[in-house]
Amino acid sequence: MPSGPHEFVVVANRLPVDVSVPDEGREGEISWSRSPGGLVSALQPVMQKQDGAWVGWSGTPDLTLDPFDADGMRLCPVPLSGQEVEEYYEGLSNGTLWPLYHDVIVDPEYHRLWWNSYVTINRRFAHAAAEVAAEGGTVWVHDYQLQLVPSMLRTLRPDVRIGFFNHIPFPSPEIFSQLPWRKQIVEGLLGADLVGFQRGSDAANFLRSVRRLTDLTTRGQVVTIGSRWARPERHVRAAAFPISIDALAISELAQTEPVMRRAVEIRHELGDPDVLMLGVDRLDYTKGIGHRLKAFGELLRDGALTAPETTLVQVASPSRERVEQYRVLRDEVEGTVGRINGDYGVMGRPAVHYLHHSYPTEEMVALYLASDVMLVTALRDGMNLVAKEYVAARTDLGGVLVLSEFAGAADELSQALLVNPHDIDGVKQAIVRAIEMEPKERRRRMRALRKRVLDNDVQHWADSFLSVLTATPRRDSHV
Ligand code: G6P
Repeated sequence: MPSGPHEFVVVANRLPVDVSVPDEGREGEISWSRSPGGLVSALQPVMQKQDGAWVGWSGTPDLTLDPFDADGMRLCPVPLSGQEVEEYYEGLSNGTLWPLYHDVIVDPEYHRLWWNSYVTINRRFAHAAAEVAAEGGTVWVHDYQLQLVPSMLRTLRPDVRIGFFNHIPFPSPEIFSQLPWRKQIVEGLLGADLVGFQRGSDAANFLRSVRRLTDLTTRGQVVTIGSRWARPERHVRAAAFPISIDALAISELAQTEPVMRRAVEIRHELGDPDVLMLGVDRLDYTKGIGHRLKAFGELLRDGALTAPETTLVQVASPSRERVEQYRVLRDEVEGTVGRINGDYGVMGRPAVHYLHHSYPTEEMVALYLASDVMLVTALRDGMNLVAKEYVAARTDLGGVLVLSEFAGAADELSQALLVNPHDIDGVKQAIVRAIEMEPKERRRRMRALRKRVLDNDVQHWADSFLSVLTATPRRDSHV
């Protein structure tokens, strides 16, 4: 296949921009705004230096767009029809792989139609990447939606270096084995030169599945692909590269006048509670929002806390709303919030302020600053960047982070109050401990947490992954 012009290509299910399409029948142009994600900020310098391209879906079904330039990047939209969104994105990606990789918190569904669509769309992404990558260039593929792309791309373009990063957990072989297409997924990933994971345990799980499902040999982090698959021998490394955030940007934002003013205003708008607790999540069953609400409700019932003196703000941003399990979750969470407020709220002062919206970064940072306790109680989470954002925002060394041990962030943020979210009594004790913590201990913990997050930011993550990837030998395209 002929090569393209771009030395560095990112492939992800979504483009790093939000698209607005005028409503049907309305006049107007399609417009784009850059999405605020840390991944884009981290990769942008590399993209600009190396004339990079980003291959991804616009987020809107049935929209075919030509490639275009944004902030020094070439964006190459991959179209998906309405049916493909249902089968590949809502189906196999978010109805099968997402729950399976998050330790089957809800039951994954296995449908052959969904799988066929996943194969078709992965092939479409692989072709799109193969068309734009330069001879001997580097292609970095992201996340569970695109696990077949590495091997498909290697077949099309054996000359390029291929990296893959899995943003979510990788399950144990006992769970992964449920997947009817487990072998295809492992072989798909082994098309890469480097497969990155959030935690050491994810990389170890992947390597165990390689040993179980293939006859390849592994030594430490390295899998050797013998002559049956490729000539000459090739090596695939699987290792952990914990992702992070643009910590300095959040830290600086937290010290700006408007954000600090807004933090004071938020507390005031909430009726100046003595204690403000905060939860910020996509509305997803992996986040343990129900467990957190149960613990808070019981503390109010026991009289250990009183509302509205203690108030919880729960931001739950809308996500994957057409997937059945997400609808069920929304009903459950909203039912629980209603019950707690019915039992413990007073006129004009609910115990839980539940906000089913997304907010701009400035507002989120103001909320982080305004709160005394941040609750991250995920049942399973690849990393959880909210925990890192909270720490980055607390330049005042205030606030206490209660963090689930099942979030990837717990490996690094050991100075948080670590909890098992299934242990409701343990979560209740941690909440009380966080509220009662002496300022001296609070500051000591936050100082240590901040050092960790500021030293290991998203730039550090991208640099470490890419330096290992580019150290792998280039192959010539005729092998
Ligand atoms: C997680 C996944 C990402 C995904 C994001 C939002 O962080 O790892 O790949 O983009 O959730 O989900 P969505 O389905 O809206 O893209």
